[in-house]
Amino acid sequence: MNSMENHYLDLSKCNHSSWEALQKPAEILRNGGLVLFPTETVYGLGANGLDDLAVKRIYQAKGRESDNPLILHVSDFSMLPSIVKDISPLEKKLLTAFWPGPFTLILPHTAQVPSSVTAGLSTVGVRMPSHSIARWLIHYAGVPIAAPSANVSGKPSGTKLSDVQEELLDKVDFMIDGGECDIGLESTVVQVIDDIPHLLRPGKITPEQIKSICGKVIIDPHILGKTEDDVPILSPGMRYRHYAPNTPCLLVCSKDNQKKVAKIKELKQHYLRPLILCSSENLADYSSSLAFSYGSQYNLEEVSHSIFHLLRQVDSYQPDMVFIEGVAKEGLGLAIMNRLLRACEFQVIEV
Ligand code: TXA
Ligand code: MG
Repeated sequence: MNSMENHYLDLSKCNHSSWEALQKPAEILRNGGLVLFPTETVYGLGANGLDDLAVKRIYQAKGRESDNPLILHVSDFSMLPSIVKDISPLEKKLLTAFWPGPFTLILPHTAQVPSSVTAGLSTVGVRMPSHSIARWLIHYAGVPIAAPSANVSGKPSGTKLSDVQEELLDKVDFMIDGGECDIGLESTVVQVIDDIPHLLRPGKITPEQIKSICGKVIIDPHILGKTEDDVPILSPGMRYRHYAPNTPCLLVCSKDNQKKVAKIKELKQHYLRPLILCSSENLADYSSSLAFSYGSQYNLEEVSHSIFHLLRQVDSYQPDMVFIEGVAKEGLGLAIMNRLLRACEFQVIEV
């Protein structure tokens, strides 16, 4: 990116009259450029999803493996027929229930979708964001927008522009500041197989919500487990190292809050400069250490909103070990634990 001034839009405090300003980045997208933009989940790094060369630039900018496919973002249902086909009644039901919103459905794609988007698969992930900036941007662009989370591959996704601005600055053509992302974790990813929805990545839309629409849901075992190289997986993204700070992290879990705190207090004595990520309720228990609250353990929205930002910060304190309190794996907790397990590279203690 050359001159920042002409390629940056601050809509973080905007009102509805400002959407017209999105016509400029929309044109950049149409012409093959890369645009960093906010969504309700995390920031996205967007390109024209029908332009093979533009999409390839995303992989370059992120240093992303070419076998990890991208999600196509649409602004309304009328964009779907050009990119996906054979939508079953059950799939329609899911889209109607959860769109616009943090929900991605894997569907068979049409010939118009370049293989750079799908990494050669016969399916593509589609999502209609609910964030006004994202919706208007896609609407003005007039094409589906391919967008992974805006972050260098392996790092936590960006939930505020300042988190990812630096690492992507010279790789994008335009940046839109929309303030902090509301949800803070990436969308729920679902694929319907033999009329049963399979949860491939947990997010704000929970398995319970999917079940209430479809009557059933299968949670892919890799969501809370490690993928082995020789075992086939439904979603390539499950294979990659994700969200991990450079400092080693340990996830400490227990149904008993006091036991969890006691275990961390015991283990941290073995380190010179431990750092702790904990619930607001437990923060005072670690007053002698470097500790940060990720929000209330009884308000998982708070935790999902803040966890990526915190994970991005920890290395800057130069700790020699990071202890992270686990949360219950129910509801939104499943999505939080999916990310924390990966941040800890599956180093976990259950007490
Ligand atoms: O909330 C989100 O989904 C954000 C915002 C920007 O919309 N995007 C996002 O994209 O998280 P990304 O690329 O970071 O994650 C997409 C995930 C990856 O794990 C990928 O492997 C999986 O979706 N995926 C994409 N296409 C797939 C397909 N055809 N079959 C199975 N998994 C797929
Ligand atoms: Mg990502």
